[in-house]
This record gives sequence, structure tokens and C-alpha cells, in this order.
Amino acid sequence: MSKDIYILGIESSCDDTSAAICYNGKILSNITASQKIHEEWGGVVPELASRAHQENIVPVVDAAFKRAGITPEKLSAVAFTRGPGLIGSLLVGASFAKSFAMALEKPIIATHHMVAHILAHFIDEPKPAFPFICLTVSGGHTQLVLVKNYLDMEIIGTTVDDAAGEAFDKTAKMLGLAYPGGPLLDKLAQQGNAQAFTFAQSSVGELNFSFSGLKTSVLYFLQKQAPDFVEKNLSDLCASIQYTIVQMLMKQLIKASEQYNIREIAIAGGVSANSGLRQSIAQTGAELGWNTYIPAFQYCTDNAAMIAITAYFQFLENDFAAFDVSPLARWQF
Ligand code: KG4
Ligand code: ZN
Repeated sequence: MSKDIYILGIESSCDDTSAAICYNGKILSNITASQKIHEEWGGVVPELASRAHQENIVPVVDAAFKRAGITPEKLSAVAFTRGPGLIGSLLVGASFAKSFAMALEKPIIATHHMVAHILAHFIDEPKPAFPFICLTVSGGHTQLVLVKNYLDMEIIGTTVDDAAGEAFDKTAKMLGLAYPGGPLLDKLAQQGNAQAFTFAQSSVGELNFSFSGLKTSVLYFLQKQAPDFVEKNLSDLCASIQYTIVQMLMKQLIKASEQYNIREIAIAGGVSANSGLRQSIAQTGAELGWNTYIPAFQYCTDNAAMIAITAYFQFLENDFAAFDVSPLARWQF
């Protein structure tokens, strides 16, 4: 096998078009075009996302090669997010990757988006040791994953309804914040009092999560208030909601750590950018003797660097895909 492994990774599962180049497990470039078009609709509009991916993909890939300082002929493989995600968005990345690879006569690698969020921990130091537990929290998923090796993972807990990112975005919307509300709510929460208001913390069995009760609790609470209540209490409301979501996540994470007797603890996915969660993991980790791993901001939300690094590990395992592989909107690992 060649000592020089160059991989182009492409991510297009939702509303970010991203391309990255990885050389022997090191990221040389990671270029992302985020789609602003969805803000005015208050959520991602799938058809608009697919069209924006089509417009963005060539310039984004081109920029990734320029930043990395290599030409496409150098590539060992072309990787893309196979799923889970929006089918139209996935199709753009998959079709581009296949055509590009076919023209260059290179193999393709089909990568799992949620596995990639976890393996983003292997881009920079410090890297977690196996086995570790990863709390994967994004706009579409909330999972506790037992990571036994790079490509050997088991979901040990999951949400029975909404994802944590959805809980952030939907409650933020109730407060009149723009989409995506998670980062905006986080920013406002930093000036607020987390104990100002109390919201329901749903409790579910085993290592699972439930966030739909919180949504209802916030909605009913707001309906009872005067018209200017939200405006006057915005940062306290944000801090209290954030506190509630973080507490619910931490409770199950602590339980998982005890149950599996594992103190290597990581977080991944878009919500791992949340300041409250980052703080809480660091603090609880120090109290309970955990080694905690929090990815750099740029590798928390959707990016192609995580696809390229995951594909590098797949490459080492000869895990290539056939050219007739199709994207999957839902895909359990
Ligand atoms: O992983 P990601 O970029 O895309 C998906 O695969 O879903 O996650 C996006 C989610 C959105 O719900 C967004 O509001 C949330 O991550 N998010 C945050 C923060 N940054 C992103 N939620 C809370 N606080 C943040 N700072
Ligand atoms: Zn994601």
C-alpha cells in the first residue's frame, strides 16, 4: 500500500457544503460554505438546500485543493457522506464524488455522518483512548455511543423523540430567535441566570433521552405570561432552557459512564459547540475523574474534515464502496 494516502472528503448531508483534504490522517484543508437562505424560512428547506449544494460544490472543492496545495491526480480516494441526512442534499455530494472519482479512476468511500462526528476527535490532539463513551448531539440525533475502535461503535442510548439540537432550535424559535436558534440561545444564555425559571426535565428509562416534554413545558409557560415577558427576560429564559437541556444530557452521560465503568468521555456534533455543555462536561469530568474530549469549534458542526478523517480509517480497512452505492436518508450503524 502507498505510504502517501490523500483523501478528498465531501459533506453535504444538510445545509453546509464542505470539502476537505486529508493526508495520512492529517487535515490539509477544510472549506465550508454555509447556506444562509434558510434563515428567512425558520428552518432548512430541503429543495433550497439541494440547489445551494449544486451551486457551492465545485467552488468549495476547488478551494479545498488550492488550500491543500495538491492536484486531484494525487488523490488515493474520494469520500462522501452517504447518510443519514436530507436525501436531495446527500445526492448532490454523492453524485459529485462518484463522477469526480470515476473521471480520475480513483476508488470511492461511503462515510456515515454520525460516525464521522465522533471520529472528528482523531483530527487533533488530545485523542481519546478506546473504549470511550461519546455523547453525540446534533440537529437530528442525540446518542450515547460506546466507541470500541475507529469503526466499531455501539449505540447504547438514544432520544425517543426530538434531538437536543432540535430542542434548542425549537425553544429558541418560541423566544422569537432566528434559525438556527441554538447558537443564538447559547450567546444570550451567557448573560442570564440559569436558575431564574424551572422547566420540566423528562425522565426516560435506561440511557435514553426525551426532549419533547421540555418543548411543551416552555410553550405552556410562555402562554401564561404578559406580552412583553420574553423581551424583558430573554437572557434568563435562554440560560434556564440551556441549563435544563444540559442537565438532561449530563444525567444520562454520568449514568452511562458508571454503567460501563468508562471514564474516557467525549462529546460530538453541532450541540457540542454549546458553552453550557462544554463547561458542564469539563466541571463534571474534573469531579468524577473523567478524561474529557471536546472537539475544536470548527469540527463540532458539519464539516468535511470529519468525513476525510473517517474515510482515512476506512481506507486502511479497504472499506471502499461500489459505484452504484446510493445515499441513505436514514442509516443505522
Ligand atoms: O451537527 P450539526 O452541525 O448538524 C446536524 O448534523 O444536525 O448540528 C446542528 C445543530 C443545530 O440544531 C444547532 O442549533 C446546534 O447544532 N448548535 C448549537 C450550538 N451550535 C450549534 N446548539 C446549542 N448551542 C450552540 N452553541
Ligand atoms: Zn452533523
